[in-house]
Amino acid sequence: MDFLCVEGGKRLQGSINISGAKNAALPLIALSLLSKEQVTLHNLPNVVDIKTFFLLLKMLGCEVEFLDTHTTTLRIPKIHNTKATYDIVRKMRASILVLGPLLGRFRYCEVSLPGGCAIGARPVDLHIKALEKMGAKIHIQGGYIVAEAKEGLKGAVINFDKITVTGSENILMAAAMAKGKTKIINLAKEPEVIQLCEVLKASGIEIKGIGSDEVEIYGSGGEALELPSNIYVIPDRIEAGTYLCAGAITNSQITLHQVNPSHLGAIISKLEEIGFKLTFNQDSITIYPTSKFYPFEVSTAEYPGFPTDMQAQFMALATQCEGASIIQERLFENRFMHVSELQRMGASISLHGNMATINGGHELLGADVMATDLRASSALVLAALVAKGKTNIHRIYHLDRGYEKLEEKFSKLGTKIIRDKE
Ligand code: EPZ
Repeated sequence: MDFLCVEGGKRLQGSINISGAKNAALPLIALSLLSKEQVTLHNLPNVVDIKTFFLLLKMLGCEVEFLDTHTTTLRIPKIHNTKATYDIVRKMRASILVLGPLLGRFRYCEVSLPGGCAIGARPVDLHIKALEKMGAKIHIQGGYIVAEAKEGLKGAVINFDKITVTGSENILMAAAMAKGKTKIINLAKEPEVIQLCEVLKASGIEIKGIGSDEVEIYGSGGEALELPSNIYVIPDRIEAGTYLCAGAITNSQITLHQVNPSHLGAIISKLEEIGFKLTFNQDSITIYPTSKFYPFEVSTAEYPGFPTDMQAQFMALATQCEGASIIQERLFENRFMHVSELQRMGASISLHGNMATINGGHELLGADVMATDLRASSALVLAALVAKGKTNIHRIYHLDRGYEKLEEKFSKLGTKIIRDKE
């Protein structure tokens, strides 16, 4: 297994390009299952989760042509298999995103239950309940969701008890295939969900209320969609936020290109509250050093609130803020796996339920630490940037799932970071 060795104490400088958003690309890849003609996806991030998803689509019978590391053409000549097997789904739980499209277009599918992961149980009950409301007959058999809609899905009123990102995406795609009108209440408003709505609209599906938490969709009744032949994935706001935190924690000036600053509102205002100055134009953002790191309080929330996917990174930053910072994790029940690893580096953090108190302003020391999930891993890299000496970060396959060319990008910014084999 690979590990990263990071030497702390270096200031960053210069600029990097941000990749396309993994969490926007995944629903768009699933959407291609509804396409009449071929579709080419551009600005795909070259990360493991995307490769895994293409493997699944190939298993379902799709033709996948890699034009280059960021551009792929998908053809759906005929789907000969509507079963998403456990061996793929367990590697990438977002495979659940094929459930809505397969059921909507092919009226039958079997999708392995994704199971939990390091950050929580991650149930999919809301996905299933909504599809049943649209006329699907669903039962669980041998760890698989077995779903059937003999007469096709029909429009319904769906009121999500909780805001769910992939749940919203699954039901948007199912509704696009349903007969009649579907009204979805309490829809997620993440930029990745909005891009999916915009592409559906560009495919001829009538959607009212895009950008709000309530939309009305008039489905095609099972007819395949005329997707745009070229789709450009939006920039990754979480990758951008992670590198902004790298600039912040090392108190450096760096610039990120190919970003959409309007997706970073909560992250920018929290960094400004800590003391940093940031400037931005249409597709780039620069962070500048500060004279003092102020402690802060934050609670994670659904978009446009502070993203849970940035919680671990800000905890690493909080170790440098003099005084007590408080972070509350409201979306997942076990998303503090990075705390014990940061404590190994000397961080003073105490946990009470979903609340973490970080007593910052002390030096961190390099250590051997272990990545546990995608965003926790990036928090360890950030801590290693300022720790005294060297830090070895193990199990970095978590990082490779969602961060493209991480070592190259950090090296370009002046970090001493190498990937080695255990
Ligand atoms: C998406 O996961 C993201 N993944 C996650 O990013 C992100 O952390 C999460 O949204 C929250 O923003 C992708 O988009 C591929 P949810 P998702 O359904 O859709 C509960 C990363 O780092 N819930 O919005 O799986 C659930 O347990 C990943 O890239 C139910 O109870 O998250 C959680 O507490 C990590 N029943 C809350 O809702 C359901 O049926 C939010 O989950 C569905 C969800």
